[in-house]
Amino acid sequence: MASKQTSAPWRVGVLFSQSGLTSVSEQAQLRGTLVAIDEINSRGGIDGRPVEPVVYDPGSDAATYVQYAKKLMIEDSVTTIFGGYTSSCRKAILPVVERLNGLLWYSAPYEGFEFSQNVICTGTTLNQNCIGLCRYLMRKFGKRFYFVGNDYIYPRVANQVMRDLVISSGGTVLGERYLNMKPSRSYFPELMKDIQKAQPDVIFSTMVGESTSFFYQAYHDAGFDPGLTPIASLTTSEPELKAMGYDVGEGHITAATY
Ligand code: ACM
Repeated sequence: MASKQTSAPWRVGVLFSQSGLTSVSEQAQLRGTLVAIDEINSRGGIDGRPVEPVVYDPGSDAATYVQYAKKLMIEDSVTTIFGGYTSSCRKAILPVVERLNGLLWYSAPYEGFEFSQNVICTGTTLNQNCIGLCRYLMRKFGKRFYFVGNDYIYPRVANQVMRDLVISSGGTVLGERYLNMKPSRSYFPELMKDIQKAQPDVIFSTMVGESTSFFYQAYHDAGFDPGLTPIASLTTSEPELKAMGYDVGEGHITAATY
């Protein structure tokens, strides 16, 4: 019946960064979302109405995410948004989505410890990726870990969970370092020296976006061997591997949904 009343499109907001720190990952999320919308539309849409994406570039910046979430919901009459990569950007737009009673679909790896009736998280949670990863790393490489990440919510929470798993299994965490959200490439050689000094069996990385490339490239330049001391990650996937160079990414480990 609804289809007879109107054939107007369902407008949905799409907020994935095309610039800034995490654009390498968010560009893939954007393409995936647009492919899904195309597929739905090519099968006749929903109730005979096409889905129309309203797309903005939040530039990997939490304040810009908020600005566009408000614009989508107030000016563009959108109630459903697909978007977000970092947990800090999700946390930033959460009050907007809740106040205006919208629905946010969030597809990045999710750190948990949050509940909202206005958000559906579809990404891997820490219980799904960390437990198996920790067991595998300890069995195959050893029990001495070094943690690196960007300084925001997801890496801090993931490292807390991983620390508990490592320590309760008899392992040790030799170092835990956080980089700001706009790290310069020049920071990485010093970080690699600190890791070399600590001599871990595994480097557990929760770096995101462009930092991921800088880190794996610095590891490669410092002459580490992924067969002996791999970088294990929850956030390094195909787009980040492409950005860093496949030779640089070879031999490292990721636990993630596919
Ligand atoms: C992330 O910030 N959820 C990767």
